[in-house]
Amino acid sequence: MHYRCAACGKETPVTTHAPTCTCGGLFDLVVDAPKWDEKLIDRSAWSLFRYRAFLGVDTPEAPDAPWRRITMGEGMTPVIPFDENLLFKMDYFMPTLSFKDRGAATLVAHMAAIGVKKCVQDSSGNAGNSVAAYCARAGIECEIYVPEGTSPKKITMIEAHGAKAVVVPGTRDHCADVCRARVKEEGVFYANHVFNPFFYEGTKTYVYEAFEQLGRMPKHVLVPVGNGTLFIGTVLALEHLQASGAIDEFPQIIAVQGENCAPLWEAVQKGSTEPAQIEVKPTLAEGIAIGQPMRGRELLDMIRRHDIRVVTAREDEILGCRHEIARRGIYCEHTTAANLAGYRKYVELYGPAPDTLVTMCGAGIKSDH
Ligand SMILES: Cc1ncc(COP(=O)(O)O)c(C=O)c1O
Ligand SMILES: [Zn+2]
Repeated sequence: MHYRCAACGKETPVTTHAPTCTCGGLFDLVVDAPKWDEKLIDRSAWSLFRYRAFLGVDTPEAPDAPWRRITMGEGMTPVIPFDENLLFKMDYFMPTLSFKDRGAATLVAHMAAIGVKKCVQDSSGNAGNSVAAYCARAGIECEIYVPEGTSPKKITMIEAHGAKAVVVPGTRDHCADVCRARVKEEGVFYANHVFNPFFYEGTKTYVYEAFEQLGRMPKHVLVPVGNGTLFIGTVLALEHLQASGAIDEFPQIIAVQGENCAPLWEAVQKGSTEPAQIEVKPTLAEGIAIGQPMRGRELLDMIRRHDIRVVTAREDEILGCRHEIARRGIYCEHTTAANLAGYRKYVELYGPAPDTLVTMCGAGIKSDH
């Protein structure tokens, strides 16, 4: 396995501690995965590492492989019916209560494998919680930059894991800029879910798991998109399943953005290959409030390649959807309730969408405003 630069194509060994290619382009990870075969699932591993045969994991079979001491049983989340059309995958049933544990587990396992001692990361909260927890597990020092307005509980949790939380005034995008300036000036390792493709190795397991659990892929797969970490993992894993002959048809992917922050939705309306320049308005869906997704071109390319439909969740529906979901026993966060609002918008625009898999990606307990 090695990195390939998305901009210039240059190859770089994965042992590098640099955040990008020397040209500044983002790394993609080239993994020589075998074809999907259920026989290659390690059913003795009760975590997403049961799929490690298909993932970029360093020295996966070594008795002292870093993933073995870092794993906290992440993944293996149940799929439950919500109504006759919707299946919820309960991804907040995770060690730090969001789907980000999928990516943090594989990223931090890799960081431990290449000897990282200290890292920084920026996050709207959940990815920061997750990286902080897995770094604590791996004994890696960690600082998390969060934008002002981040749920206090997420900040408390980052600090509880022994990481330093740096609250940055201004938007989520500005917070990322401040953190990246630090990476550039000090050369500290950037444990970032957008830059480092080892994160996507973990989010791929969202699809592998659903496929193993259901014995099929649902017709529709709805994912929220801010920076697109779950989205990219979902597309990569579905492409792998299709190339392996395990699925005949690519499911209809539905990508949800908040109406107050929808650079990809706008780009699709305009037929543009770059995310639209937008002004980010305040939103309850803090997890997807990304005005400038770094991999925007890549996301739009995937959207075109697979006829993915992008819809926006109405701001005034998010609270109602959260309430509705909670009244059915499921206490998710606002960003996650936006998924149901996005689903309703999809049905309004395109008609009935039976057999839709929706992620319950973040826990409500973390996001009381
Ligand atoms: C609960 C929740 N849902 C969705 C997202 C969006 O993820 P991404 O920015 O990788 O698309 C996040 C990101 O923080 C999140 O915390
Ligand atoms: Zn390059």
